[in-house]
Amino acid sequence: MSHPTDFSRRARWSGGESLVSVLMAKALTHPELTSLAAGFVENQTLPVDATARAFEAVWSVPERAREALQYGTTIGYPPLRQAIVDRLVSCDGLPPGALSADHVVITPGSNQLLYLVACVLCDPGDVVLCGAPSYFVYLATLRGLGIRSIGVAVDQRGMVPEALEEQLERLERQGQLGRVKAIYVTSYFDNPTGLTLAAERRGAMVETARRWSKAGRIYIIEDTAYRELRYWGDDVPSLRSFDPSGETVIQAGTFSKSYSPGIRVGWGVLPPELVEPVLTAKGNLDFGSPQLNQVLMSTVLELGLFDRHLEVLRQGYRAKVEATMEAAERFLGPLSGVQCQRPNGGLYVWLRLPEGVDTGPAGRLFDLAAERGVLYVPGQFCYPAEGPPVPRNRIRLSFGTASCEEIGRGIEALAGAIRQVTG
Ligand SMILES: Cc1ncc(COP(=O)(O)O)c(C=O)c1O
Repeated sequence: MSHPTDFSRRARWSGGESLVSVLMAKALTHPELTSLAAGFVENQTLPVDATARAFEAVWSVPERAREALQYGTTIGYPPLRQAIVDRLVSCDGLPPGALSADHVVITPGSNQLLYLVACVLCDPGDVVLCGAPSYFVYLATLRGLGIRSIGVAVDQRGMVPEALEEQLERLERQGQLGRVKAIYVTSYFDNPTGLTLAAERRGAMVETARRWSKAGRIYIIEDTAYRELRYWGDDVPSLRSFDPSGETVIQAGTFSKSYSPGIRVGWGVLPPELVEPVLTAKGNLDFGSPQLNQVLMSTVLELGLFDRHLEVLRQGYRAKVEATMEAAERFLGPLSGVQCQRPNGGLYVWLRLPEGVDTGPAGRLFDLAAERGVLYVPGQFCYPAEGPPVPRNRIRLSFGTASCEEIGRGIEALAGAIRQVTG
């Protein structure tokens, strides 16, 4: 007689219904649906020609081609790490030499970097403070490692400083401060809210993390996945730029949204004392990200193809934000209790529906919206495991993959479903 599998605690922590599987099941049973759910970049905008040029440039130099086809180092391809440093120094207006490529680690997407950092900082039962709401894949990563995610309220300007202080005070009173390892923030065009952490809150947040590092160091994990996807206004200095010694802020970045998720190159700028532990953990996992992708991405940057592509993306997405906001005003505007925040960048719009409407798979709206042809991300999946009560009436829409016409049709369908639910 065979015994049932005794799964690890990690496998059990990861279990339960995942958002991705709910959405996939829906998309598969309704292939005609307009997806305003997936946070993908638009297929038509993927840089086919630019990448072909970069490939040719790599392949035209046999030593470089061979380098690309060989294993690399765990930390990553040196010219790429240096190019990332140069860009960050320039974006943040830092003095030359303010960042060192020795502290930059390349990962296959920033998700791996976030995972590795969680592994080296946290034991099961440790705490990461996260905005309520936050990037749901990261929340699942924490859950899978047995790490407690605790929510901190956010407003139009990002994480609320007073709410962060209150959470830290509460944890201190409970004797739990030593278990708080990090504060996670998507500092530009957040997933799911589309909001950017206000410039004046950035320095103060770094200061808060330092001041509360009395029972053990509390890091800030700054996720900059959408920084380059700005359609209006000027860039703001990163949280990392308020940490000149680089001891407090771990910065994660990626080319997935700004260039190609298929190439899947991400990076981390790490505090010096985290470099070795993260590299050891990465060494145990893959001893280095795919070298071909790194050489390719490095060449894309070197040839100026990245900046040119960003201009194309920005133009396309500007039109999509306009299409989204026009449709929202036209179809959702007349519905009472529906609010929608205009994003200046990124891929998402966050909606608030009337109190009492449950947007989740257990409520009526999700199925009715699918019947009318539109798929969205129920907001309740984006909340940390603990913290303030989870509102049931939020929705994340993404204008990433759909065309302007599809966005219009999708939002019209959603408005119809909301009207049906609210009577
Ligand atoms: C906020 C945020 N961080 C990180 C990522 C990870 O992207 P990748 O692992 O492709 O770099 C995503 C992807 O959707 C994201 O939305």
